[in-house]
Formats: sequence, C-alpha cells, structure tokens
Amino acid sequence: MNETLRQITSHRSIRKYKTDPVSDDVQSRICRAALRASSSGNMQTLSIIVSRDPERKKQLWELHFRQDMILQAPLLLTFCADWNRMNHWCRMSDADPGFDNFLCFMVAVGDAFIAAQNAALAAESFGLGICFMGTTLRSAKELARFFSCPEGVVPVTTLVAGYPDEDPPLRDRLPASGIVHQERYRDYDDTEIRAVYETRERDGWNRYMSANHLAEKVKALGAQNLAQIYTKVKYPKEYNEMFSKDLLDVISEKGFMPSGPS
Ligand SMILES: Cc1cc2nc3c(=O)[nH]c(=O)nc-3n(C[C@H](O)[C@H](O)[C@H](O)COP(=O)(O)O)c2cc1C
Repeated sequence: MNETLRQITSHRSIRKYKTDPVSDDVQSRICRAALRASSSGNMQTLSIIVSRDPERKKQLWELHFRQDMILQAPLLLTFCADWNRMNHWCRMSDADPGFDNFLCFMVAVGDAFIAAQNAALAAESFGLGICFMGTTLRSAKELARFFSCPEGVVPVTTLVAGYPDEDPPLRDRLPASGIVHQERYRDYDDTEIRAVYETRERDGWNRYMSANHLAEKVKALGAQNLAQIYTKVKYPKEYNEMFSKDLLDVISEKGFMPSGPS
C-alpha cells in the first residue's frame, strides 16, 4: 500500500458535517487539484461553481431534494459541463466551433466528472469529508437557471465538502472478479450474478432495513429484496424517465442538440 492507495481505499461518503469553515486556501487548492485532471484535448471543458453563501445554500438544499448535508457542509462545488468558454475563444479567433452536439456534451461531462473526482481526493487529503450529489443531474434544468448558466453550460455533478461529523464504516464493493473482464466482455449466467451480488444482497438489505425511514418505505412499496429496493424505492422507472426528460430539455436548451431531442 502506498499513500495514494491508502487514501483511495479508505474513502467513505460523509453525510453529516461540522459547521467549521473550509479556509480559502484549502478551497483554492482543492479547485486547482481538480483542474490538474486529464481532460479531452486538454480543452478543460468544465467549470466549477463554488457555493458558500448560507442563503444561496438554502435554495440549493431545495434543488437537491432537501438533503441536509447541503445545509451543513460549508462548501459546495458544482461541476458543469462547459463549452461556453471554448466557443467564445474559438469565435474570437476566427475558428468556427463545431461543439454544439451530443458527442461534445458527453466529452464535457467526462471532463467535469474526472475533475470532480480529483477534487474529492484533494479534499479528503486535507481531512475533509465529501459526498457526490446525484441530484445535480436530476435538477440540472433548475440548477442551470439558479447559476445563470449560459448556452453551452450544464451542471452535472456537485461535491459537498466539510469536516466530518460522523465516522461511517467502509461501504462494500462488488468483487473485482465480477467487474473486470479480460480482453472481451464475458456475460454472466445466473449463478455468476448470484455470486457477484451475494454479500451485497444480504448486507445492503440489512442496512436499509435498519434505517427507520427507509424500512417504512420498503414495506409500503412492497420491496422483497435489495434489487427491488433499487427498482421500487430508490430509482423507480417513472422517476428515471421524468428526470431524463428534464435533462434532455436542458441539454437541448443549452445548445447540445441543435435539432432537439427526438
Ligand atoms: C455520481 C454520484 C452521485 C451520488 N449522489 C448521492 C446523493 O445524492 N446522496 C447521497 O447521499 N449519496 C450520493 N452518492 C454517494 C453514493 O451513495 C456512495 O458513493 C455509494 O453509496 C458508496 O459509498 P461510499 O462512497 O461511502 O463508498 C453519490 C455518488 C456518486 C458517485
């Protein structure tokens, strides 16, 4: 184990934070570490929006489905897929930008997430806890408005960061043997799928059932196993479809699908 691996393998998402502020110096070092990440063509098609103002954070709390860590953690970093800056520079340089398409949106999403993971590691190296917010993609349309994002800019993920006020255990991971393929993708039979998910099925079910608010939901929606918690309770199809529609709208609104979603 070297120091980098030790840090990576001890990562846990933190969902309870002290109110202690994160210094300007630490915040700036986290952002600079994010910007050292690889990016497609070194174009760095991302922006980071820093949110620290308590009033603005209250509004963000609503947009992030009232996840309380948004209120507690002193620092929020929203990562946007961003071609606006690059387009502007190209136009100023008499270069005709051809980046208003879905491919380029995905390139920028990749740049934004890779930078965000760098920021996460940098924050953890300073003793901060972090948690990614999946609600950014679900509220991207509203967040784009909230942050005054121009054409070419879509918020895609948020990192909550602050000093931890909890010490949760490491979460499990599926075994590498079930995820890493050699040379070709080898599809799974039922027995292999069972083996890959065996530990998670048991531990995950027990974890959700020991959280009162979730256990009630699981019961109310009739989920019988962990997979059904994912499909009926956490990520039901109708919500996925609704949020997909909003996301396609904002991607189109920001100019990445010139003919609109089909
Ligand atoms: C893209 C992304 C979005 C996430 N969104 C949320 C979220 O909205 N709320 C939350 O509590 N955790 C969120 N998480 C954290 C995951 O639940 C967490 O990483 C996973 O359960 C594994 O736990 P660990 O990070 O502690 O190892 C998100 C993680 C990622 C990578």
